[in-house]
Amino acid sequence: MKEYLQHDEWSIIEKGFKPEYNRISESIFSIGNGRMGQRANFEENYTGDSLQGSYVAGVYYPDKTKVGWWKNGYPEYFAKVLNATNWIGIDIEIDGKSLDLASCKVAKFRRVLNMKEGYLQRSFVATTKSGKKVKVESKRFCSIVDDEIGAIRYAVTPMNFSGTINVTPYLNGDVKNEDANWEETFWNPVKVVVKNTRAFVIAETKKTGFQVATGMKFEIAQKGNIGKLKTSKIKTGMYAGASVDVPVVKGEPIVVYKYVAILASLNHLPKDLLDRCKAKVKQAQQIGFAKLLKAQQKAWAKKWEDSDIIIEGDIAAQQAIRFNIFHLNQTFTGVDERLNIGPKGFTGEKYGGSTYWDTEAYCLPFYLATTEEKVAKNLLIYRYKHLEKAIENAAKLGFDKGAALYPMVTMNGEECHNEWEITFEEIHRNGAIAYGIFDYIRYTGDKDYLIDYGAEVLIAIARFWAQRVHFSAPRNQYVMHGVTGPNEYENNVNNNWYTNYIAAWCLEYATEAIAYVQSKAPHKYKALKEKIDFKEAEELANWKAIRSNIYLPEDKERGIFLQQEGFLEKALEPVSALRLEDRPLNQKWSWDRVLRSCYIKQADVLQGIYFFEEKFDLPTIQRNFDFYEPLTVHESSLSPCVHVILAAKLGKQEKAYEMYLRTARLDLDDYNNDTEDGLHITSMAGTWMAIVKGIGGMRVYDNTLHFNPFLPTSWKAVSFKIQFRGKTILVKVTPTETILENLSKESVAINLAGKALELKGEGRVAV
Ligand code: BGC
Repeated sequence: MKEYLQHDEWSIIEKGFKPEYNRISESIFSIGNGRMGQRANFEENYTGDSLQGSYVAGVYYPDKTKVGWWKNGYPEYFAKVLNATNWIGIDIEIDGKSLDLASCKVAKFRRVLNMKEGYLQRSFVATTKSGKKVKVESKRFCSIVDDEIGAIRYAVTPMNFSGTINVTPYLNGDVKNEDANWEETFWNPVKVVVKNTRAFVIAETKKTGFQVATGMKFEIAQKGNIGKLKTSKIKTGMYAGASVDVPVVKGEPIVVYKYVAILASLNHLPKDLLDRCKAKVKQAQQIGFAKLLKAQQKAWAKKWEDSDIIIEGDIAAQQAIRFNIFHLNQTFTGVDERLNIGPKGFTGEKYGGSTYWDTEAYCLPFYLATTEEKVAKNLLIYRYKHLEKAIENAAKLGFDKGAALYPMVTMNGEECHNEWEITFEEIHRNGAIAYGIFDYIRYTGDKDYLIDYGAEVLIAIARFWAQRVHFSAPRNQYVMHGVTGPNEYENNVNNNWYTNYIAAWCLEYATEAIAYVQSKAPHKYKALKEKIDFKEAEELANWKAIRSNIYLPEDKERGIFLQQEGFLEKALEPVSALRLEDRPLNQKWSWDRVLRSCYIKQADVLQGIYFFEEKFDLPTIQRNFDFYEPLTVHESSLSPCVHVILAAKLGKQEKAYEMYLRTARLDLDDYNNDTEDGLHITSMAGTWMAIVKGIGGMRVYDNTLHFNPFLPTSWKAVSFKIQFRGKTILVKVTPTETILENLSKESVAINLAGKALELKGEGRVAV
C-alpha cells in the first residue's frame, strides 16, 4: 500500500517528484475520452522508468499466441490494444541538451488530475547540469466534446537566464508495446508529413490493417502573442517533428500550444484520413486552447451532474469515488457499439484492452443508472454483433447446432485467452452475457430488446449449456464437469455451484424470452426460428429436463451451497489464520499450493447469490456469506464490491464499510501493488455499485426502484443520482434521515426500506 497522493475532493494531487512511483502515477493520472486514452507520460523527454502509452479505441493487433505447450482449441492470437503514435511529445533543449527530469535537479514537482474539469496539469522547476533553471507548467486533455481531439498547453519560463531554448513538438509512431509476445513492432508507416508547424503520421497496424492518422499543429506564444516561427523539419521513420529556436528572456514564459487530432480507419475511409486529420487539426487550432478547455469543463460538468456521488465528512472516500467515476466516464461513453470496457481501460497494456465478463457482471449497472439508456444498450449490442463469432468459438471446441460460447477475452468476438483452465473452463462468462440482458431489461423495462436482439443470443447460449452438461447415471441428475468458477484459485472442478446455477437460469430465461417474442412478435419469431433452425418443441423440452434436474451441490447440515462438489474435503482454515508474509497468495505461494488450498480469489457462490438475491431467503444468504467470506482473499479487484452489497443487505455494516474501503482506494493507494500496469477500471464500476447497491441498498424489483440505505459511521452524508426510465432521482442519506427527491416532472413509485411511496413530479420526501 502506498499513500503518497494528497487527499482532495475534486483532484488527485502528487507533490514532489517520485521517480520510483512514476509508472503508478502514469496510470492514475491517465486521461481519455472513450475514443482515445493517454497515460500521464511527460511531454518532454524522460529517460527514467516509464511506460509510454497512447491508445486508440478499437485498434488492435493479433499478437501470435505464446504458450509453453500448445493445446488444440487455443486461440491463434491475443488481441491487444496498441501503444499508438505518441502525440504528447514536446522536446525542450537547453544548451544543446534535452530537458530530462531523470538528469535534472527537480523542485516543486506537482501533478494534478482535475477530475471536475477533465484535464491533467503538471508543474515543476528543473535545474539542468549546466545550471540553467526553468519552470515548466503543462496542461492537457482529451476532448470529450470532440473525441478525436487532444490539446496541450506547455509553458517554459527561464528562471535564471536569457538566451535560446530549442522547442521540438513532435509525433512519434515508432513505438512498441512492452507486452509484445515476440518483441515485434505492430505498426507500418503509411505516410509521414512535416510542413512548418504541422505534422502528420499515418500508420497502419500489421495484420489487422487499421490505419490511424495523428496530426498536430503547434504555436508558440510570448507575451500573449503568437509569433511567426522558423522551423526545421525532422522526419525519420515514423517520427515527425519541427524544431524551433526560441529567443527567451529571463522570467518571461514561452507557451507552446499543441493541437492534435487522432483519426482511425474504424471511422473514416483510409483515403480520407489525411485530409480529415488536417481539417480537424485546423479546426482545433482555430477554436484555440482556452475555448476547447472551456467546452471540456462544461461537458464534464454535465457528466458530473448525472453521475456524481457526494460523500460528506470523509475526503479520502469522496476523492476515491470521484476518481472511480471519472475513469469510468473516460473509458466508455457509449457512442459506439463496437467499443467496450477493458479491465484497464486506456491506462496500461495489461489485459490487452479486451472485453471480459466484467462488462456485464460489473460495469453495466453504472452506465444504466448514470447515462442514457442507449449507452448500456450499446454494450449489449456489442455482444449481439459478436454472436456469430461466439458460435464459431463454441464450434472450435466441438459444440454444434448454433451453440454459442462467448469468449473470456475478446476484441472482435474471437477468443483471445489461452490458458486452458480459463479459455475452456471458465465458461460461466456465458451466463454473465445472458444476465446482462436480463439486468438491462429489468432496469429499463425495454423488454422489446428481446425481440430484436436478446432472444437470439439467449437461445444460442442456452444451446451451449444444453450440450455442456451431461447426464450422470449414478446421480440421476445433470452435471457439469471440468470447469473453473469465478474463483480462479480452483481449476477443473466438477459441479461448480455458480456455473450450474447460472446455466440452469439461462435455460429458464431463454425459455421465457422465446415465449415473449412468440406472443409479441410472431412474425419475427418465425423468421428467427428459421434463421437459426430452432427446433422449438424438442429443444425446449430438453432445456426443461436439464434445468429442473441439474445438480446443485450443497451441504444440508451447514445450510450452504458448495462452491464445487469436493469443496468441503479441503483443509478449511480462515484467511485470518494466514501469515501476513504469505499474502498476496498469488505472488507468494506456488500455483499448485494456491489451487489445492481452500482460499477463494473472488466471490463465487456469493457472486451467484448477489446476481439472484431474490431467489434466496436472508438466513440462506447469511449462512453462505458467513461460510465463504472468511475464506476469501479478495485477490481479484472485483471481489470486495460483491461483499459490500451482500454485507449491507445482511446488516453487517462494519464489514460492508471495511470491504468498501478496499475497493474504493484500490488504485489510489496501490493496494494490490499492481497499479503501475494500469487502473482497475472494471472494478471501479464495482466501487460505484458498492455505494449505490451496497450502502444505498438500491435494487429494481417489479419495475420499481427500491432503496434500503445505511450510512457508514465516519460519513456525515452520502448522496447520488439515479436515472431510471426517464426520471432522475436524487437520494441523500444522513445519520437521521433519507431524502428522496424526484428531479423530473412525472411521479415515480419508490420503495424505501420496505415501504411503498409515490414520489410526485419534483417532489421530495424525507423519511
Ligand atoms: C479475475 C476475472 C476478471 C479478470 C479481468 C481476473 O483477475 O479473476 O474474473 O475477469 O481479472 O478483470
